[in-house]
Amino acid sequence: MFGPPGSGKGTQAKLLEESLDVCHISTGDMLRERVASGDALGKAVAGIMESGGLVPDETVNRMVEERIEQPDCANGFILDGYPRTVNQAKLLVGVLGAKKIAPMLVHLKVDYNEIITRLSSRRICSQCGAVYSMPLSPQAEAECERCGGKLTIRDDDREEVVRERLKAYDRQTTPVLEFLRGVGFQALGVEAGKRSPQVILGDIQGLIEAKYGVSKVV
Ligand code: AP5
Repeated sequence: MFGPPGSGKGTQAKLLEESLDVCHISTGDMLRERVASGDALGKAVAGIMESGGLVPDETVNRMVEERIEQPDCANGFILDGYPRTVNQAKLLVGVLGAKKIAPMLVHLKVDYNEIITRLSSRRICSQCGAVYSMPLSPQAEAECERCGGKLTIRDDDREEVVRERLKAYDRQTTPVLEFLRGVGFQALGVEAGKRSPQVILGDIQGLIEAKYGVSKVV
């Protein structure tokens, strides 16, 4: 699942995880867990994430390599927020080749002005991690609809940090598309702005059906 910050990678990956019975690997979530745990890695990356920069490739590559080997990834996995640099993409191409996995690359396209609006209205449940967008779920303003937990704003969703994240995306992540195309991946573009998550999901399921002959297993 490829696309700029706030393009809906996590939203779509969670919807697909349920319908496809595959695991969802979000490097951002994994890193935030480490920061929250306060372990050495978390302490080392907290400042980078807060400023909108990218965590070093070796750290992220190691995390992803280990995660892919877990039993719940045996049916397949959705990568959300990875690869984000050409070095990460090189490692991934090697791993997929060794495992003989036929990947699908979905590129979510959204206008940057819409992204800034979206991320300033994102709220996350401090208890269960559910993600809300205030304009989409105004009733969720006070507390989480699922568990009643307090809704919080992600540290890196402040507008000045979002702008840094978009710069990092332009500089370090957009070259990944060219690299992947060069090694034979087909990037399937999906218009992900000004349309509801369910409508976007329908488009992605159509692409999955066309490639693998199945778009839902559960
Ligand atoms: P990460 O957590 O991966 O952040 P990101 O890529 O910037 O993506 P987001 O989680 O902000 O957005 P998303 O595209 O998942 O959108 P979402 O579905 O949440 O990374 C955070 C940091 O970790 C990085 O800056 C970096 O420091 C580090 N990091 C992570 N991976 C790394 C890597 N590989 N290498 C190095 N460093 C790494 O949606 C956003 C909002 O929009 C939500 O409120 C949602 O409800 C709403 N929304 C979703 N779809 C729609 C829609 N169709 N219409 C309206 N609103 C919508």
